[in-house]
Formats: sequence, structure tokens, C-alpha cells
Amino acid sequence: MESRTPFHEFDVCVVGMGYVGVTLTAALLSTGKRVLGYEANPAVAGELAQGRLVLAEPGVEDLIRDSAADGTLHVTDTVDGHRLPPVVIVCVGTPIKDGSTTPDLGHLTAATESIAAGIDDDTLVVVRSTVPVGTSRNLVLPILRTRVAEPLLAFAPERTIQGQALAELLSLPQIVGGLNENAAKLAADLFATVTDQVVPVSSLEAAELVKLVCNCHTDLIYGFGNEVALIAEKLGLDAMEVIGAANRDYPRPDIHKPGFVGGSCLTKDPYLLRHSLAGHGHVPELVGAARTLNESMPRRVGERVLAALWEAGHDPATATVLLTGFAYKGRPETDDLRGAPYEPLLELLRGRVGEIVGHDFVVPAERIAALGVRPVTIEEGFAGAHAALILNDHLGYRGLDAEELILSMAQPALVYDTWRVLPPSTNVMRLGVA
Ligand SMILES: NC(=O)c1ccc[n+]([C@@H]2O[C@H](COP(=O)([O-])OP(=O)(O)OC[C@H]3O[C@@H](n4cnc5c(N)ncnc54)[C@H](O)[C@@H]3O)[C@@H](O)[C@H]2O)c1
Repeated sequence: MESRTPFHEFDVCVVGMGYVGVTLTAALLSTGKRVLGYEANPAVAGELAQGRLVLAEPGVEDLIRDSAADGTLHVTDTVDGHRLPPVVIVCVGTPIKDGSTTPDLGHLTAATESIAAGIDDDTLVVVRSTVPVGTSRNLVLPILRTRVAEPLLAFAPERTIQGQALAELLSLPQIVGGLNENAAKLAADLFATVTDQVVPVSSLEAAELVKLVCNCHTDLIYGFGNEVALIAEKLGLDAMEVIGAANRDYPRPDIHKPGFVGGSCLTKDPYLLRHSLAGHGHVPELVGAARTLNESMPRRVGERVLAALWEAGHDPATATVLLTGFAYKGRPETDDLRGAPYEPLLELLRGRVGEIVGHDFVVPAERIAALGVRPVTIEEGFAGAHAALILNDHLGYRGLDAEELILSMAQPALVYDTWRVLPPSTNVMRLGVA
């Protein structure tokens, strides 16, 4: 993966070419910048170097393909021994350690160590990964200082929604906080070339917290919709009737409809916020309660379906169950499986039901097969199934002949329509209805 251009002659180096890095790269390319992508996974770097995307994000593919072809984008899997461009933006993952709620900052540490060797006094380093408050100062800065006495360090969070990230990157306000005035100004100037509005905040920490409170607020709003759903189910009411009436022409904030809360961010950022407060004498109870409730929803739905199978006279142990909608959300559509409700549902249903078959409108069949689930078309999946669970709200469900699909199932047919994507006339189970 040799580049004709020396690395330091690119305008920006984007570190970590996942959903965030690749979309930011496309946005920067669209403003005429030359981008060096540094991606540690050689397979991903190799594909991108050829102009091929390994993930789905509208509008990004064409920019990556054309720029890889004309040399304005170069993607490498190592920056060892190279001087880097004047701006380096770190977009690596900051997940939760497996089986815990502790942030894993290993990728961020490794990425910072790799770039530290290639920066100088004038290099602007921007952290874009979502991090516990204090991470830029306490983790990134000391590593950069092994190379430069006063690094130019800023934090500028990604706040776009997957599925329309490029359009949002070019239009949403961009939060920027700097270690010092100079770093803050350089970062603000950079993002002003991408979007119209830059919102400066007074510190790295304020910018880090803005990102976390945005996502925790979203989790909280969704959590309240789910709380209303559980309340309505117990009281024999329809949550959507209640929520619809409550919101109608009423000027206070909307109550969100119930549903699964997934994705790589909302499922872990509340834990990053909680971690930020360790040692500060406060536990964000509200944030934790919403997360716990939202995490419980897939299992609650699975338990309801298992109980309904027994009630319908189907022994779950010999039943075929269709899971459809593996991506963590349907709209805007994505192929991202991270934090999706299929995972706890598979855990619950495996060993309890006869066979689980799987379908998704966007996620390729081979990725469903890799989860140990037999991939099917939507028609194959419904045909003969004892239960079908619709897990996201992809628009593809709207075009289906629901009555016919339900008739093709083993009778009495059980369908759980989490997002109410099927016509109201169909006789199915719904979240928020007893
Ligand atoms: N996905 C989103 O829409 C979204 C939105 C807002 C914020 N974020 C945050 O942005 C960050 C990145 O998210 P993502 O979804 O793009 O993650 P991702 O896992 O899709 O991408 C991260 C990429 O970084 C690469 N990487 C890991 N270690 C590296 C290293 N040492 N050097 C170079 N590359 C390395 C990985 O191979 C991977 O391709 C996370 O902190 C996330 O919380 C994500």
C-alpha cells in the first residue's frame, strides 16, 4: 500500500476507518482535502485502499472510490516511521470490555502511541472517539507529551446518526473543546470547513461531556417510552394510544414511542458517563435506570413470545422461530449489528426453541449465518414458522402482504411486531399492548 504522496503532505490523517472515520473522511474529501486514512485492520485498510467500503453508509462509497482512484485518499495499515499530516483525527472504537461495564480504552491508547511518533509542535490532534470525561487530558495528552512538550490537542465529538451520517456531518453544529486557545481555534477552523456552525466550549472535558449527555438523554427518552409501554401492558391499555393522545398538539416535549434501543453507542455511552464519575461521589441513577430498563426489553419480549407459544399449544422445543430485523435499527437503514436486540434474544431462545431462522433487509445472509442462524428470505422465514419476531422498523416491512405471510405460518400463528410496522388490522402481539 505505497502512496505516491509522502504521508505528511496529506491535509488530514484520520485514524480508525470504521463508521465514524470513514464518514468523516468522506466529508473532508468533499471539502477538497487530501486524506490519509490509518486503519490498523489490514483487511479493512486493503479494501479501502482499493476504494471499497466494508460498511454501508449512504453517500460515502462514491467519494471513497473516486478519491482512492485519484490519490486524494490513501489508506494505510501502518504509520510507523512516517511524519504525519498537520491534522490527525482519532476515531477508533471505545467499547465496553466484554462481560463488564468498564470502558476499554486499549484502541485509543494504541492509536495515540502510533501517531505520537509522527507528530510535531504544530500538529493538531483531535480526539473524536466518545470517551469518559477526562480521557483526552489524562490518557491521550501524556502519550503525546512523550514526543511534544505542548501538543495541540482538541476534542470534537461525532454526533451524527448512522444511516445519514454524511449529510448530518455537513450540516450539524460541531462541538469543539481545546487544551488551549490555539488548539481550540485550529480545530474550530478545521470543522468550519465542513459545517456551518461550530460550537466552542471552554475545555476538553466540556466537549467530552456534551457527547455523553447527548446520548444518555436519548437513552433516557427511549427508556421513558418503554416504561410507558410496560405500564400500559400491566393496566390493559395500549401505550401508543396513550402516547399519541398525550403528544397531540401539546406543547411540552414529545413522549417517545416504545421500542428496542440498540447500536454501538447508546448501549455503552451511559457506562462511559458512569465511569467518568467514579471517584467523584455521584452515581447518575437516572441514566443507569434507563439503561437497565432498555437492556431488559428484548428478553421481556422473548419471554412473552415463549409464553404465548405454550398458550397457543405449540411446544417451544419443537417450534420454528423467525427473527427478522437483525440490524440494530431499520430507519435510517444500516447493516450495523452492534448492540442489536437479536443478541439477547438469541441467548434467551437458543436451547429453548426448535429452530431459529433469520432475515434482514440490509444485513447480508452470510453475516446472519455467521451468527449460527439459518438465513432465509422473508417469505421462507414466515412459511411454517410458529412465531415471527420483527425486531426493527425497516421500511421493507411496509410493502409486505402481512395477511398472506401470517397465513403461511403454522397456525395459530404468533407474530410479535415490536415497532408496529404491520397494518393495525393484523392480529399480532405488539409492544405496549397486553
Ligand atoms: N458509529 C457511530 O455512529 C458513532 C457515532 C458517534 C460516536 N461514535 C464513537 O466514535 C468511535 C468510533 O466508532 P465507530 O462506530 O466508527 O467504531 P468502529 O469500530 O466501526 O471503527 C473503529 C476503527 O478503528 C480501527 N482501529 C482500532 N484500533 C486502531 C488503531 N490502534 N489504529 C488505527 N485504527 C484502529 C478499527 O479496526 C476500526 O476499523 C467510538 O468511540 C464511538 O463510540 C460512533
